[in-house]
Amino acid sequence: MKRTFIVLGLALAFAACNGNKSNSSTDSTTTTTTTATTTASSSTTTVNDTVGKALIAKNDCLTCHKLDQKIVGPAYQDVANKYTASADVIDTLANKVIKGGSGNWGSVPMSPHPDLSMDDAREMIKYILSLKK
Ligand code: HEC
Repeated sequence: MKRTFIVLGLALAFAACNGNKSNSSTDSTTTTTTTATTTASSSTTTVNDTVGKALIAKNDCLTCHKLDQKIVGPAYQDVANKYTASADVIDTLANKVIKGGSGNWGSVPMSPHPDLSMDDAREMIKYILSLKK
């Protein structure tokens, strides 16, 4: 399972690079090839993002969090900007969602979510961190 996530993460990173290249490419043959690659990778990206997004919608997260505005908890975009995605950071934040707690954004605590699996929590974190601006 873990390995699949890493592969998906890499696919995400490559999708971002390919997207940039296709913009600057002028050679039509290259453009066609690049577009095909981008389409293949971004379908993976979409699946990956959708899992986390759907889990967030299904849980109570959005009562305290908005994508681009602080409510009770920080805006997800601010969370994404504060951290650099790595296996460690994803695990730490996934644990925090499960256990709850305060201190990184102020004294208001996040409620614990003990029913979440670590895998689901990781998917949500990966989606949140993908919102980086
Ligand atoms: C009761 C309100 C509340 C709910 C519900 C809630 N959060 Fe939070 N969340 C907070 C608060 C408050 C913080 C800031 C905690 C701090 O200062 O360390 C926070 C912080 C976070 C952070 C950043 C943690 C850090 O240490 O930087 C993430 C990621 C996060 N929440 C994700 C989620 C997800 C995913 C869910 C749904 C499963 C969720 N939150 C549900 C209130 C909430």
